[in-house]
Amino acid sequence: MMYWIDSHCHINDEAFKDDLNEVLNRMAEGNILEAMIISSYIEDYEFAKTIGHEKISFKRSLGIYPGDVDDVDEKLFEEFERRFKEDDCKAIGEIGLDYHWRKDNIEKQKKVFEDQLALAKELQKPVIIHSRDAIDDTYEILSRYDVKGVMHCYSDDAKMALKFLDLGFYISMAGPVTWKKAVKELEVVHTVPLNRLLIETDCPYLAPSPMRGKRNEPSFVAYTGEKIANELGVETAELQKQLIENYHTLFGL
Ligand code: NI
Repeated sequence: MMYWIDSHCHINDEAFKDDLNEVLNRMAEGNILEAMIISSYIEDYEFAKTIGHEKISFKRSLGIYPGDVDDVDEKLFEEFERRFKEDDCKAIGEIGLDYHWRKDNIEKQKKVFEDQLALAKELQKPVIIHSRDAIDDTYEILSRYDVKGVMHCYSDDAKMALKFLDLGFYISMAGPVTWKKAVKELEVVHTVPLNRLLIETDCPYLAPSPMRGKRNEPSFVAYTGEKIANELGVETAELQKQLIENYHTLFGL
């Protein structure tokens, strides 16, 4: 039986604190039966371990978000490192560079990013990459590390996507691919080979059409999946089968 996977969600976010069980029930009803819960804080990661549903398989990842590097010292980094080594931690991420909000701490962002990439390589765990307004530096750094991973919520162009594919990376598309003005995103969808594609919600943000503007949740990943299947002219079940295989291959499941 085929189903959808949300390869990147934050259902451990405060946005879901009042109705998490209903959100999980809608996932099961919507046939979203696997999901990766992404944590940027140790408390969120520990909380993510408690999230479960009888019909859904949840996995977890942890990483220091580029927006949070100011707070990182040796002691905090060691706390993260200890969790990265846990079997439960299936990937290191989301990690990367974000120059959209901050440009005054680029060197620290790069250092924390590279320290985590070095650990990912040592531990042989995949990485989940966040890159915003920083794609050239992200590429330059990733090209120096022998790691596999996914470009999460990919928002750059198709030409750049090819370079990450060359590095062995997967490309994950989120809600914006369903939005009205998704030209660049659809070009990416047509460029990425099916066996290197993933989809995600990145909820609670970036809800796909027709839910745009609302709080996003994993059950909405089906809108993104259907849009891509339609765009590529493939059967829903065929896309689902490939996405399941990609997800399992990348995260070693
Ligand atoms: Ni995210």
